[in-house]
Amino acid sequence: MSKTRVLTGITTSGTPHLGNYVGAIRPAIAASRMPGVESFYFLADYHALVKITEPARVQRSTLEIAAAWLACGLDPQSVWFYRQSDIPEIPELTWLLTCVAGKGLLNRAHAYKASVDRNRAEGEDDDAGISAGLFMYPVLMAADILLFNAHKVPVGRDQVQHIEMARDFTQRFNHLYGDHFTLPQAVIEEQVATLPGLDGRKMSKSYDNTIPMFAPRAELKKLIAGILTDSRAPGEAKDTEGSALFQIYQAFASAEETAAMRQAYADGIGWGDAKQQLFERVDAEVSPLRERYEALIARPQDIEALLRDGAQRLRTAHATPMLRALREAVGLRDLSDAGHADSPASTKKSDAVATPTFKQYRDADGKFYFKLVLGERVLLQSAGFASPREAGQRIAAIKLGALDSDQLDFSLGEGVSDEDVNAALAAFVAAQLEGEAGTP
Ligand code: TRP
Repeated sequence: MSKTRVLTGITTSGTPHLGNYVGAIRPAIAASRMPGVESFYFLADYHALVKITEPARVQRSTLEIAAAWLACGLDPQSVWFYRQSDIPEIPELTWLLTCVAGKGLLNRAHAYKASVDRNRAEGEDDDAGISAGLFMYPVLMAADILLFNAHKVPVGRDQVQHIEMARDFTQRFNHLYGDHFTLPQAVIEEQVATLPGLDGRKMSKSYDNTIPMFAPRAELKKLIAGILTDSRAPGEAKDTEGSALFQIYQAFASAEETAAMRQAYADGIGWGDAKQQLFERVDAEVSPLRERYEALIARPQDIEALLRDGAQRLRTAHATPMLRALREAVGLRDLSDAGHADSPASTKKSDAVATPTFKQYRDADGKFYFKLVLGERVLLQSAGFASPREAGQRIAAIKLGALDSDQLDFSLGEGVSDEDVNAALAAFVAAQLEGEAGTP
């Protein structure tokens, strides 16, 4: 019976904090113990290089994050736990995917676009200070996922676009070279709280408002004492709504403890007392983890060995055979090995599924329309545009992968899903790539 493969990467660019624990580590470890799941957790150190250029920090963060996950109970014998840079098949696959990834799609990645927008706002050249690593980030991430044919990828909202891109690359690659990759799905953990930080905003390194997970007790206490509250005096009733202190408490407490704290707020508990209770609750959960963490971090050679062992086993079981098949599929082949039958997609172009086409027309209302048709079937029907140029620009954007189905300038044909359209478009773009191949 085949298991559901669940895969998540953790960028090694910081020190684990309580927000990481509540939002990622704790739920992931719980999920890894569910039956029917094969879990992959890895330290995304290649990704870290996009953000950090201090070698010692990359190394330190990798150690700390590995130790944190292990201290929290991740069992490296029952899940795949590894370091990205120990799997050379990942950068190798990145290149294969790079060659099918649409540059236009990458142009639209949020992180890259935000950097371009910042440059524009400052009157700089669009790409000033932007590395190609930032630009290619989504392709590397797709390689992480596709190499192991992961079915599900638990991520935060900010990463959903990256999964959509991975899906796009999957469809293009499969269309060209046969069905090698599983279409991955983003899983957004709706119930998992994002923890507020010391200042009430989301706990995040970029806001400098974090509580490190393994801060020594005295420091933990001091940090908790510094959580922002309003100025209500002891005896005055307090709001749980919008109270960072309450939300953090809730993330660590049982339902009964939370109800009791809610009552205490209504009864006018003083902030000092509330903070003391929060400290005790957090410390009770973190204390045993902290002890294990310290023991682990004191023996970095053990963590090193464990990561290497995980990577080695995983390469043997999955990565190496997968890359062998992929190299074969794209034509990186033994020259003496003649008479290969190519995959259906790359040989039988003509009688492959009909290629979708865009049809532009002007209607009786004088406006300009387009539809995307696949044989007899209408996949997309646009609204009316004032000029043919606007309609043409919209088509161009859609061809680049910017379906943006929340934009209301088109509707899906009857019984057509986003999925259908995306598959058709992937075929469309792949067909174009084939046409363009050889004209560098
Ligand atoms: N980009 C992810 C983040 O910053 C980390 C990551 C790298 C990842 N590769 C991945 C997450 C593959 C899921 C799957 O959070």
